[in-house]
Amino acid sequence: MQITFLGHACFELSDGVHTLLVDPYLTGNALAAKTAEEVNPNFIFVTHAHGDHIGDTVSIAKRTGAVVYAVVELADGLLAGQGIKAARGNIGGRQATPFGSVKYLPAAHGSGVPGGLACGYLFEIGGKKIYHAGDTGLIADFSLLREEKLDAALLPIGDFYTMGPEDAARAAGMIGAELSIPMHYDTFPVIRQDPERFRALAAARGCKAAVLRPGESIRL
Ligand code: NI
Ligand code: MN
Repeated sequence: MQITFLGHACFELSDGVHTLLVDPYLTGNALAAKTAEEVNPNFIFVTHAHGDHIGDTVSIAKRTGAVVYAVVELADGLLAGQGIKAARGNIGGRQATPFGSVKYLPAAHGSGVPGGLACGYLFEIGGKKIYHAGDTGLIADFSLLREEKLDAALLPIGDFYTMGPEDAARAAGMIGAELSIPMHYDTFPVIRQDPERFRALAAARGCKAAVLRPGESIRL
């Protein structure tokens, strides 16, 4: 399993056969490691409809034929009629996928579409469990993830719109993943953060964290 950080909340997950892309905000992101033309996912996951998450989803899906996963209101409201394949789901639901499975998890954040909920995703792929939190504040629900024995948790640390480093470190402690990776920082002035501070705060809680620069990968 390879996890590649492409900047902001965008990650590429690959088991060598399937490539998943989460929240592909590439165009307009000065820190993005790839352009929207350089990614070739089989599956795209959108955590919510804010522009810094839905990003280039439609153009990438049109070019690659990737299936786009989103909560029902986002799939029906924004993705329907765009000539792309959308897969719907909702909070708490797990569904089998060609690469393994995905479960839609709660996130405390606006969805960007009427009636919809922002979400995080728990992926089972390549024998690993990887959690992408999306945009969220600190929620007690994180502690429910401990039983999942996650291999990796991708957590926002930017503050202002989501958890900051302190709350993200608390989240890492509640989740208890083997590895936590910070995201959603530095893209805009209001979310400028030192990810090493998050790493140190997580370490103080006994949690290992790895800081990836945009374009860097880690193997699980
Ligand atoms: Ni957002
Ligand atoms: Mn965001």
